[in-house]
Amino acid sequence: MDAVAPPRPRFSLRTLGLPTRLTLAVFLVSVGVGYLSALVQLHFQHAGPGKLLPEPEDAVNVFHGKAKTSQMERLLVSSEHKPFNGQGSMRSAFTKRSGGWEKELRRRTKAKDGDAAAAEKELREERAGEIAALVQFIRTECDKDQWDSMPLPEGWKQPITEKYVTEVNGKKKVAIGAIVEDRCARCHYADAGGSAGQFPLAGRDDFAEYTLIFDGGGMSIEKLAQTSHIHLLGFAMLYGLTGVLFSLTSYPKLMRFVIAPLPLLAQIVDISFWWLARIDPIFAQGIVISGGIVALSLMLQIVLTLLHLFGWTGRIVLALIAVGLGAAFYLKIFPYVQQHLDRNRAIVAMQSADAIKPGG
Ligand code: HEC
Repeated sequence: MDAVAPPRPRFSLRTLGLPTRLTLAVFLVSVGVGYLSALVQLHFQHAGPGKLLPEPEDAVNVFHGKAKTSQMERLLVSSEHKPFNGQGSMRSAFTKRSGGWEKELRRRTKAKDGDAAAAEKELREERAGEIAALVQFIRTECDKDQWDSMPLPEGWKQPITEKYVTEVNGKKKVAIGAIVEDRCARCHYADAGGSAGQFPLAGRDDFAEYTLIFDGGGMSIEKLAQTSHIHLLGFAMLYGLTGVLFSLTSYPKLMRFVIAPLPLLAQIVDISFWWLARIDPIFAQGIVISGGIVALSLMLQIVLTLLHLFGWTGRIVLALIAVGLGAAFYLKIFPYVQQHLDRNRAIVAMQSADAIKPGG
């Protein structure tokens, strides 16, 4: 026989009997609905208040730990409207509570032909520069050698009160110790009357004590190991099945090649990001992307495979079911979701309003 046999048509799910295809369809729908409920859980567990799903910032908090600041930094950067104590803010020590503030304001207002607003703005800019310099000093982990003279980083723009800045060979240096002496030690010295005297800020070591940070937070190793193995074993099984099913459809080969293994691959990347996020928060931000790819590719697999399984009649039935479910969700469940998000947003708004109430 020299006639070439025609190539055998490739097997696809479509050739299976209706009972098998129906079973597969219900399986796919279950996985889809299951995944949606996993997203609901994700919302309650990890999304920031008032948000539907976790954003990069939330992922950083969960996997890397909240960016905690020391008491010193908080007292320096918090709004002046907070109470003037160890829980509130020491910021006004640079402005209205600083020595000679009113006098300096009057002098500058005069120099600006009576423009008090411009004078105050200029003065506040310089004082904010002092604060920025102290924060920069904290970033150096309060390097002993920089207490008296700290070089400013390249490209520093913020103006700083002139008397604390020296310039050598075009390099600017700031006298950190002198700033603390003028702005803080006025009240924070050992024999001072008043409560601030109990907390002297007599030098670098006193200052540094308030810059320590305790407990970085983040998910515990035990918890991380547990979620990792649940995801790797449980979800790998599901994504493996949906992937194999999708690979047996009649979509173009390249498409099957990319989409079929994608949720599995993205999940491996996702989970390695969870672990790497402990080292660097940049990986925590990647989690939102890798997690998004898992979700998107899984949804594609489910929808496309469902479409492949049936002819036009079946597809129309599927579309009707989807529209019905969607409408039920929109009318019956969505209002609750909305209410829940609104309530959380209101709580957040209330908290920040409290925070800036003068003296509150
Ligand atoms: C006008 C006086 C005054 C000035 C100036 C001042 N503070 Fe205070 N500071 C206080 C008072 C009052 C408290 C509250 C003490 C208490 O808890 O009883 C306080 C509390 C603190 C605490 C918390 C102490 C603790 O252990 O609870 C720190 C830290 C602090 N100040 C840092 C600073 C720094 C840094 C500066 C300079 C930028 C500064 N303060 C300037 C009066 C002052």
